[in-house]
Amino acid sequence: MKKRWRLLVPALAVMLALLWWLKPEQNSLDITTLAKPVAAPASALSARVIAQGDLPAPGTRSLFDHLLAQNDGLPYPFEKLVALIRAQDPDASAPVSVLIPQGRSLLKAQADAAHPRVLLAADFQAANAGSLGIAPRGQLFLGFVEKANEIEVLSYNEAGGRFEFQLVQNYCAGCVPRIVYARRAICTTCHQGGGPIFPQRPWNETNGQAATAETIRQHMASLKAEAYQGVPLRQPLAMPERFDQLTDMGNFLPVTQRLWLDGCGEKGNDCRRGLLRLALQYADSPGSFDTASAPVSAWLALQKRWFPAAGIAVPESDLFNRDPLSERQGLKGWWHGLWVRDITPGEGARDNEDLEAFDRLPKLSARLDPLTPRPPRQVITAADPDAIYGVAALFTASDLDTLLVRHGHSLDRVLARVDALPDSVFAPRPVSRVQLMNALLGQDQSYCCLDTSDMSPPQASGVPPLKIVTQPVLRHFERYCFSCHRGNPAARLNFMAGATEAEVLANIQAKSEIRDALDWERYEGTDKASQLMPPRDSVQYRHWQQDGEKARKAREAMRDVVPGLFSF
Ligand code: HEC
Ligand code: HEC
Repeated sequence: MKKRWRLLVPALAVMLALLWWLKPEQNSLDITTLAKPVAAPASALSARVIAQGDLPAPGTRSLFDHLLAQNDGLPYPFEKLVALIRAQDPDASAPVSVLIPQGRSLLKAQADAAHPRVLLAADFQAANAGSLGIAPRGQLFLGFVEKANEIEVLSYNEAGGRFEFQLVQNYCAGCVPRIVYARRAICTTCHQGGGPIFPQRPWNETNGQAATAETIRQHMASLKAEAYQGVPLRQPLAMPERFDQLTDMGNFLPVTQRLWLDGCGEKGNDCRRGLLRLALQYADSPGSFDTASAPVSAWLALQKRWFPAAGIAVPESDLFNRDPLSERQGLKGWWHGLWVRDITPGEGARDNEDLEAFDRLPKLSARLDPLTPRPPRQVITAADPDAIYGVAALFTASDLDTLLVRHGHSLDRVLARVDALPDSVFAPRPVSRVQLMNALLGQDQSYCCLDTSDMSPPQASGVPPLKIVTQPVLRHFERYCFSCHRGNPAARLNFMAGATEAEVLANIQAKSEIRDALDWERYEGTDKASQLMPPRDSVQYRHWQQDGEKARKAREAMRDVVPGLFSF
């Protein structure tokens, strides 16, 4: 007996050690520690000329803000926002979209098979027609989690030379949404390159995979549902594949900025001029472009002068594929289940500020966790011509045509124009397709998404919503109007802005048109009816109707605070 024990104890110890050793490895990183703003290396030129804070550089805005400002503000529900993006596409194609029931984003615990996360990416470049066409391919991405009432937005800032990270908070029926610039340091814990990220093939998390699509279908409240938030429940695998390509394109934009700025250096205007020249040649005919040619070698010599010794890293935007379904199946699933508890619905971060709740969720393995620092995909050196490809990719096919038409259908004449441009065009500023096109065409083309003079100021996250205490009439405006007239990126429609009750009221009183916009008795049925507020196709209008007598009284109270000035 005694003897047996002597054998059993060490055997048990070995077994336990083995079990411990075989347990699924979990990441020890947490977002609370990682989400500290990193002081950008002040020496890098790009870090000095491209904004590093949460808000965009003064006078510049995200593509998303421009689109909303051009279209009178943020539509609700989500399908209308999708329609707005779709309407910009000359082919009116639906954006690239996937559903992710069980993902790895910050709001992962708020999504499930019945309310999957919706990802959208724009995939078009409009032709130039008098003005420069909008080109959001690889530059505009949305992630919507319905149960968190939040849309995450990643869109490029053309003049600012970086992606902007934004949130639409409180996005729900009858709610007052807030469009804010997120705390960038939080987003870049996972979006490490300052741009989009996406898993690799075969994208098991997405509904491009039949098994994942099937779990969504089974959980949909209405068994007949074919789509969720306008996205088909089952997508072909080509969808996540295209999404992946678009995120790779986006990921290279910040790299192109670094190559243009840090690669050529502060004093490298000649290097940037040469770069533009070669980029246009490459864009014109990639097939016959010879990287071993004398002009390329001559330019590489220019690039060599100031190129950072450590090279310029291309951040890794690809995450390893994760298959959440197989993690739960068979022996492997049983084993995994012994060590990693399930997420209970609603647990975890409810919004993008709630980092501690996120950290309390079960951890992923370091390999699969987007928080784990990823080594660069590639490090570009002074001997590499990648800057040429990056700058070439800024131009659309239509841009090339427009340049050729403008310069007598001759690429040589386009290149002669590059040679003749003033030095200031190549000053160390963020490279911009629109700015270069204007310089090359010799005239300012109108472009939808650059001018910010008609926009309301950008908002940072964390500003609390207005508390209404002393001015009860503001509650009516809050219920029926705020969602469209507070925080609207179009300045002309932002007339209920203000940080305090007094400010908001003063702004409302200064907008005499409100009296008429609320005069349903007078204008209903006339040719002015379409200007009555709230608009007939809005959630607020539906409330207005449901509220009946209460709404009529509210209308009077609202009109009474605004001095009349018949301006309709
Ligand atoms: C914990 C990691 C993590 C954090 C933090 C995070 N994201 Fe993401 N995000 C992801 C992952 C993973 C994806 C791709 C797959 C998915 O959505 O599940 C993604 C995708 C996105 C997308 C769709 C485009 C793309 O890159 O694929 C947007 C838009 C987005 N995130 C915005 C934000 C914003 C804005 C913030 C900051 C407020 C943020 N994210 C913070 C992990 C994160
Ligand atoms: C669902 C969004 C939405 C809601 C809710 C809404 N509006 Fe509007 N409002 C708009 C849009 C869009 C326009 C611009 C219409 C145009 O220019 O054709 C507008 C225009 C106006 C204008 C005219 C502004 C100008 O200078 O031309 C006034 C005044 C106005 N709204 C007042 C109100 C009031 C008061 C309420 C609440 C009772 C309200 N709105 C609710 C979307 C909304």
